[in-house]
Amino acid sequence: MQLAIRGGKPICKPPFDRWPIWGEEEEEALLRALRSGKWGALHGEEVKKFEKEFAGFQGAEHAVAVNSGTAALQVALRAAGIPAGAEVILPAYTFVASATAILDNCAIPVFVDIDPETYTIDPQAVEAAINENTAAIMPVHFAGRPADMDALEKIAADHELILIEDAAQAWGASWRGRGVGSTGFAGGFSFQSSKNINAGEGGIILTCDDENIGLLRSFSNCGRLESGLWYAHYNNGGNYRMTEFQGALLREQLRRYPGQLEQRQKNCALLNEKLAHLPGISPLSADSRITSHACHLYIFRYSPPVFDMLAKEQFVKALQAEGVPCSGGYSLPLYEQPLFRNRNFGPFSEVMQAAPNYAEQDLQHTRTACQEQAVWIRQSALLAPEEDILRIVSAIEKIYENRHELL
Ligand SMILES: Cc1ncc(COP(=O)(O)O)c(C=O)c1O
Repeated sequence: MQLAIRGGKPICKPPFDRWPIWGEEEEEALLRALRSGKWGALHGEEVKKFEKEFAGFQGAEHAVAVNSGTAALQVALRAAGIPAGAEVILPAYTFVASATAILDNCAIPVFVDIDPETYTIDPQAVEAAINENTAAIMPVHFAGRPADMDALEKIAADHELILIEDAAQAWGASWRGRGVGSTGFAGGFSFQSSKNINAGEGGIILTCDDENIGLLRSFSNCGRLESGLWYAHYNNGGNYRMTEFQGALLREQLRRYPGQLEQRQKNCALLNEKLAHLPGISPLSADSRITSHACHLYIFRYSPPVFDMLAKEQFVKALQAEGVPCSGGYSLPLYEQPLFRNRNFGPFSEVMQAAPNYAEQDLQHTRTACQEQAVWIRQSALLAPEEDILRIVSAIEKIYENRHELL
């Protein structure tokens, strides 16, 4: 069979991944918010209800909805009182917002490597990076896979560090039966349009701590206190509030979510099983402590040597041509972004003089994931019927068999 990239017939047929998914329920919810005449969360009921519903879904005590996942992390870090110039440890394999939320609080992002078997932060690397200036650890539940919370909670407790979870991709994910996002001080989730629960933009912060929720609410609502007057501002917060339209939409998206999550998990299990048998392809390792994976991305590892040194970029292009909605993911470790390389820290430059020399950093597993190994399949494709998922497997087999055409 000729490869699609060489003019052959693609193995997967569109429409493979439809996103977003909505119906009359979402349309009615948006009209409900519109007709209420209360479009902001200060006066409406939709956001308040969504906060309760999402906290319940994730098993947290409290939630405060905000206008993005970035804002969720910024507010969580601010409310946690991370001092200016303190260090926050995070994985180098994550979206830029994990790190810029730290920078926005005038704190120093310290990147450490990922575990090559999980692609989440390596607890040993965290331990090695701790010094007297470390204030917090930010695990990222990347792709929807919970980071090793046993190890991270222990490290945080042993060193008296704040734990703030970047759960932007981890709705419904759980570790040993406990929903992620509210284990430490707080955790942030995203509802941006590529995400499994989508309102175009939006975010939420979860916590199980009664004191923290007051701070989180205050910092996301102009520093007000719930018990205080409208024109009384106690903290250096901002307006990070979600609109009622987002709240209404998200309530419906959340109602759809458990069924979608189950479908994605079923398909990921199928891919894990099938891909494990293909030459040069290996799924990430299983971990029985993960009781629910949110499957935002299905990530598998590609091995160029087994494909006679066909570069990952070429492999991904060939796979895309076969109709598989995939990408090579992040092409470089976060510390290699111009922002960090050029130390472009604007007003925080002086404080950031104490930051690591990012230009000299080289984290092997993150680099290998970016340059050679990681291939991502989008969450929307994971809602496909089983026969389409099996076509992904056939497409990879086809590329392997015809790899010489691409060399
Ligand atoms: C890991 C991670 N952290 C933070 C964010 C930021 O979320 P948002 O785009 O809603 O600001 C995202 C979203 O792209 C993300 O994937």
